[in-house]
Amino acid sequence: MPSAACYQPRLYEGVDRDPLGRDLPDKRDKRMTQDTASAPYGQPRPATPPTPDGASASPARKPMTVPKVRGRKGKEPLVMVTAYDATFARMLDEGGADLLLVGDSLGMVVQGNDDTLSVTVDDIVYHCRAVARGTHYAHIVGDMPFLSYNVTPEEAVRNAGRILAEGRAHSVKLEGGRPVVPVIERLVAAGIPVMAHVGLTPQSVHAMGGFRVQGRDEESAQRILDDAKAVAEAGAYALVLEGIPAELASRITAAIDIPTIGIGAGVGCDGQVLVCYDMLGLTPDLRPKFVRRFDELFDRGKAAMEDYASAVRSGEFPGPEHTFGPAKGPRAVASGS
Ligand code: KIV
Repeated sequence: MPSAACYQPRLYEGVDRDPLGRDLPDKRDKRMTQDTASAPYGQPRPATPPTPDGASASPARKPMTVPKVRGRKGKEPLVMVTAYDATFARMLDEGGADLLLVGDSLGMVVQGNDDTLSVTVDDIVYHCRAVARGTHYAHIVGDMPFLSYNVTPEEAVRNAGRILAEGRAHSVKLEGGRPVVPVIERLVAAGIPVMAHVGLTPQSVHAMGGFRVQGRDEESAQRILDDAKAVAEAGAYALVLEGIPAELASRITAAIDIPTIGIGAGVGCDGQVLVCYDMLGLTPDLRPKFVRRFDELFDRGKAAMEDYASAVRSGEFPGPEHTFGPAKGPRAVASGS
């Protein structure tokens, strides 16, 4: 049984859309030619998803950019969530995400590992490309994997460049404080916007002795505050604060002039980020204190699967409405080609 993605456009000569309602390639190509003709620097993505009649679905919503993210400091909270594929990206983007993070958390929730350390630059590039195809509005942040930026600044520039050029992300995120300042400076000098990440930094899981809340005593709190100031000074445009006491996160937010985006860091940040699988309730065995589940999609998906299995086994699916009849006219769909 072929999936919808296997349908070939040539089976649908004379029509504009495939069975999923997507433009067929010749129509897409024409639209791209028109767009690029009136935009000298190209038009990487439309400002709003096109509707079938070409009108704008949501004229009020414009793509999120680095200057706009920075401009939200102390204003309306930024909403960031992770995404790893085109379908989720579209759902989360249309649902109102300001930023989509292609996080190295994919090593855990997509690849099934216990930590993020095995994720490669190729993995991030691959998932960024998929997310970029599903995104219209959100700013896409590609996570720099373990050791992709800590060996030499030259390697960091090359790897970050791939995440933007091949992955079509708009910025990169990397973990660490003062030790990564030279890397942030090099990336920013190369025109690559950098989101920094301090506090609980999952790539240092072994150094931390596990995924543990950081900055609970005055000395480590001061260290994290100094790190935050250093990465902001180095040119990062935003800072993730993960797994630190809420009071420390508020202190950091007040002390630096770039937006802070918290995860397990309380409400005093300039925005919040969650792993989409946690937020949607797709991780049945994990219930961290800092996560609020906004749905229980694992349970609902499992129930849907049970319904599908019983419909197939009972012969109730597919019904006549899901079944093709014989050819009706000269332009009918050719079967088996
Ligand atoms: O990889 C990731 O998902 C992250 C977030 C938890 C901030 O770094």
